[in-house]
Amino acid sequence: MKIAILPGDGIGPEIVAEAVRVLQALGEQFEMETAPVGGAGYEASGHPLPDATLQLAKDADAILFGAVGDWKYDTLERPLRPEQAILGLRKNLNLFANFRPAILYPELAGASTLKPEVVSGLDILIIRELTGDIYFGHPRGVRLAPDGPFKGEREGFDTMRYAETEIRRIAHVAFQAARKRSKRLTSVDKANVLETFQFWKDIVTEVHQEYPDVALDHMYVDNAAMQLVRAPKKFDVIVTGNMFGDILSDAAAMLTGSIGMLPSASLDANNKGLYEPSHGSAPDIAGKGIANPLATILSAAMMLRFSLNKPEQADRIDAAVKSVLARGLRTADIYEAGTTLVGTRAMGDAVVEALN
Ligand code: IPM
Ligand code: MN
Repeated sequence: MKIAILPGDGIGPEIVAEAVRVLQALGEQFEMETAPVGGAGYEASGHPLPDATLQLAKDADAILFGAVGDWKYDTLERPLRPEQAILGLRKNLNLFANFRPAILYPELAGASTLKPEVVSGLDILIIRELTGDIYFGHPRGVRLAPDGPFKGEREGFDTMRYAETEIRRIAHVAFQAARKRSKRLTSVDKANVLETFQFWKDIVTEVHQEYPDVALDHMYVDNAAMQLVRAPKKFDVIVTGNMFGDILSDAAAMLTGSIGMLPSASLDANNKGLYEPSHGSAPDIAGKGIANPLATILSAAMMLRFSLNKPEQADRIDAAVKSVLARGLRTADIYEAGTTLVGTRAMGDAVVEALN
């Protein structure tokens, strides 16, 4: 089994190194190959997603990705910015189904900014469509406004669009995921304003006919944002488009206390996937050895479960993470009085030791 290791920028290399050590400690024969991506790709070969890196990702069975981005690249033209690497990987590899679980570990209940009774026991799953929507729609750009009250003035514009196939396939993924959990699915849209999302709602409703055992409800995205902080436990599985999913998944992540704990999986139709922490490259703390590697380690567990068909190894990692939290070890992002502050490396060591 071949795993492409793409550490990227900022804290990416530090946290990915710990996940790789955990994978190596499992006693399996993984072939791992590392390649630069994001700012590191740009430095190495003038492009955030070098051809060789894309080829490695295509040839691998799964991809472990760190994070990309740094302020120092903000002035580059858009196609050369680090974020294009992850967008390019998603698009080129057809990774349309993004799983972003938000799980509150009981030990971290105090780390949430919300009251414990609102978040304790939280376990929700956001399924974000990842290769369509306004993120990838054309045309886009800056032009002279062709009409309207600002005709002739410069305007920025993007295109929001979803093809029927794109909505159907993510809806199937979501209904199937809901079927394996509590059999409840919430589809989030903005059908009251946007044509694209009225169409989304209609197609999701059609696909629902094939899943009569799953209860479906529809919610507008503004209401969903409010309900996520008001009563998040009312949700189980949420399915939504690329942009709404981007925003809602950050909000959901923070319910759990730290975005440093949350893994994600981005899958194609055959369960080939890219696995990455839900957080970014955090350039402000890069190189300091203080970043939380657990989201990346848990992403490696998701990789074993979804793409490499090693659920028992995934369980070992999940259990090891739970046990280091139970022992009171905390990186700075989840530290509370009475717990033990550790750095990135020590956290990785503790997970490796806790594997059994
Ligand atoms: C994410 C990130 C990306 C996105 C950026 C880095 C392009 O915010 O994975 O959520 O917007 O999808
Ligand atoms: Mn995001």
